[in-house]
Amino acid sequence: MTQDGKELHMKDIEEVLLFPQGKGKRDFLRLDGIWDFIDGEADAGMPRIEPETSKYQDKYQSVVSAKSYNVGYQRRKQKRTQKETAILRSLLAGHAPAETVLDMPSGGGRLSPVIGKFVQAIIEMDISLGQLLYVRENSRISVPQLCIRASGFQIPLKDGSVDGSVCIRLSHHLYSLEEKEKLLSELLRVARRFVIFSFVDSNSLKYTLRRWRHRIVGTPLKTNSITVGELGKITKKYGGNIAACPAIGPFQAHRYALIVK
Ligand SMILES: C[S@@+](CC[C@H](N)C(=O)[O-])C[C@H]1O[C@@H](n2cnc3c(N)ncnc32)[C@H](O)[C@@H]1O
Repeated sequence: MTQDGKELHMKDIEEVLLFPQGKGKRDFLRLDGIWDFIDGEADAGMPRIEPETSKYQDKYQSVVSAKSYNVGYQRRKQKRTQKETAILRSLLAGHAPAETVLDMPSGGGRLSPVIGKFVQAIIEMDISLGQLLYVRENSRISVPQLCIRASGFQIPLKDGSVDGSVCIRLSHHLYSLEEKEKLLSELLRVARRFVIFSFVDSNSLKYTLRRWRHRIVGTPLKTNSITVGELGKITKKYGGNIAACPAIGPFQAHRYALIVK
């Protein structure tokens, strides 16, 4: 896509931004081109937030911590990334071509090259400024990317404003079912056609063993997982249906759900 084409597309995407009453572009657009809807309110959208969830939201705010995470992940987790990108590719292929997809949380843009193959534009959204600055510095894909700092609990996009939402590796950092429900309701609200959502399955071998271990030792277990049944119920409540739910490996607790509307 030419630079002119990219800029035109960006203007179209900006139309889907949802500003709080009385506020507009000037209140949120930073000089470096990142839209910042956080303004010190990282827990926005949730009346109550678990301490572990809150702590995780602060983890990659600096460029240094985001860089060290992304470089380390690239070095250590190549096999995992290969498996995940193969699943993501197959799920996205069923919905291509798509105009705009929300990649939330984007992290440092690990999955953007895969998503970019199936869409005309990506909205990269994360709560961490460090991660978004890393995306801007390092992303080399040809489709336009709009970077937004916002919480998944309060996505500043209009209803049905993107073809699909992709939410990978966030839900297992949320320590209550209410938080997962709020996140899913937002992802489904902004998506017209589909949501791809990764989660840790409570009924996986790994998590079943973990539960037993805690029961035997008698220590309480605060869980970050969810069952496929619980996910299905929440999904239905907000107008979606689970169409596929592959695990990333036979002994892996992580699954990718394809939710269609
Ligand atoms: C493990 S990374 C995953 C990034 C990317 N999806 C991937 O698979 O490489 C999780 C990201 O979630 C972001 N995050 C944490 N809490 C969030 C929230 N409430 N809303 C949006 N992003 C959040 C973190 O800043 C971090 O970049």
